[in-house]
Amino acid sequence: MDDRWWQRAVVYQIYPRSFMDTDGDGIGDLPGILARLDYLAWLGVDVLWLCPIYPSPNDDNGYDISDYCAIMAEFGTMADFDRLLAEAHRRGMRVILDLVINHTSDEHPWFRESRNSRDNPKRDWYIWRDGRDGRPPNNWESIFRGPAWDYDATTEQWYLHLFTRRQPDLDWENAAMRAAIHAMMRWWLDKGVDGFRIDAITHIRKAPGLPDMPNPQGLAQVAAYPYHMNVAGILDYIDELARETLAGRDAMTVGEANGIGPDDAEEWVGTTRRRLSMILQFEHWHLWSDHPQAARDVLALKRILGRWQRALHGRGWNALYLENHDLPRVVSRWGDPQRHPRESATALATMYFLMEGTPFIYQGQELGLANAEFANLDEFRDRFAHNRIAEMRASGLSEDAILDEMRRTGRDTARGPMPWDDGPQGGFTTGTPWLAAHQDYRSANVARQQADPDSVLQHYRALIALRRREPVLIHGRYTALAARSTRIYAYTRGEGDERIAVVCNLSSRPATFRHTGFALAAEGLLLVNRPVALHGPRHALRLAPWEARVYRVAAE
Ligand code: NOJ
Repeated sequence: MDDRWWQRAVVYQIYPRSFMDTDGDGIGDLPGILARLDYLAWLGVDVLWLCPIYPSPNDDNGYDISDYCAIMAEFGTMADFDRLLAEAHRRGMRVILDLVINHTSDEHPWFRESRNSRDNPKRDWYIWRDGRDGRPPNNWESIFRGPAWDYDATTEQWYLHLFTRRQPDLDWENAAMRAAIHAMMRWWLDKGVDGFRIDAITHIRKAPGLPDMPNPQGLAQVAAYPYHMNVAGILDYIDELARETLAGRDAMTVGEANGIGPDDAEEWVGTTRRRLSMILQFEHWHLWSDHPQAARDVLALKRILGRWQRALHGRGWNALYLENHDLPRVVSRWGDPQRHPRESATALATMYFLMEGTPFIYQGQELGLANAEFANLDEFRDRFAHNRIAEMRASGLSEDAILDEMRRTGRDTARGPMPWDDGPQGGFTTGTPWLAAHQDYRSANVARQQADPDSVLQHYRALIALRRREPVLIHGRYTALAARSTRIYAYTRGEGDERIAVVCNLSSRPATFRHTGFALAAEGLLLVNRPVALHGPRHALRLAPWEARVYRVAAE
């Protein structure tokens, strides 16, 4: 069986801007991460994924890189990075970097050269085309709204940007550009980084000829971008990238993979080819990002996650996540932050964490944070939010309706400062934070939850420890239980006597879990998220709202 270090690992995602500020400028920094390494070691995580730390004009908070081989001044220096890497390694933790290679910043020297003249050697490192009678070269829309093209008067052509206008797309058809990216990746790997989270990787290839799209405004739905997402031939780029940068190294790669379904996944992460270690799929995220009004659909969640579990068992590897810096907090979307904040946070945690795959935790998720609250639209910092607000205003929506929508779906809802204690600004900074401190920081913070044995944080720590203790939770087969229940998410891992059952009530009402073929007994309990009130009969469990239990299964 394939047994790799990153399969046993738990990943912790750090949004450096909001993790810990040590110099009082209100912006997190690398010395801040260093100062909190002992916390991360205490929690038990193995891999730190750092969102972009490179120089950037921050049009998209670092996802617009202007120099791939340096550190953003606000975050510190390369010496700070080297120290952080060494200290993480000394504690047995690894560090992976966010690799943004679908696009650069418009301030990257490559793009500055490229836009200089039509015959500049770097011209074709980006995608330049003539317009159509003063209009863009085709009808593509930016994922962040508006046309995907910007006009450049100097050379009288348009350049393509799938994200903001300050994030021009690189042209992956250009071999010299690809070689420069490969060299940059080798440079970081030689420095000792342990791998990469690869941003927007499924967008790097565009349909030859850049034809008009049938559905330019398809938003972020799967298969909505037929001409710039998972375009045939893209895997050749991944093969080359793996050959040129990863071969012979034991690195971890996780691709951000909008548009890949379980049927294609083996091509990307299959054990035989192993182009990438794992991918972050988007299918379950669409359940909460695209349909903010929709009720929680537990059946759909089970269908989607179950398909991924089955598709990759023994063939590849899953990445498991509920949150990241692009999504609202899961407790606000799926849980019950008013009535059952702790129970819903811990039930959701238990549900996803013990599936087959590498679990990811996004900073603050381990505290069960709800969405940060915003009193008015001016408080949103995200460029994508600004574009959406402008779009909604243009469509005539009221300010209240727009604010309501942004409070539920805006990316800034999960990007605010990490609450460390109940001191000013939650201990994040001695200055004024770039986004306001979380409204709940006095009650939901690291210090407080470390001291409380029943906290969400302690539950995450227990989940991590349990996963480390029980080998069946790494490679054991996932079998869905209670498939028709609209409230219970339950499954087993493993076979026969070597089985662990995970049973979670994902609702604010009591629920009964019935099963046959095995028994769940009080003495088999491995983890609970609230005191177990009653334990009988052998084949039915009565679960309180948001109750989650993990059992070692007893054979009958
Ligand atoms: C995905 C990243 O997670 C997101 O934050 C970013 O805005 C886009 N890719 C563009 O790089």
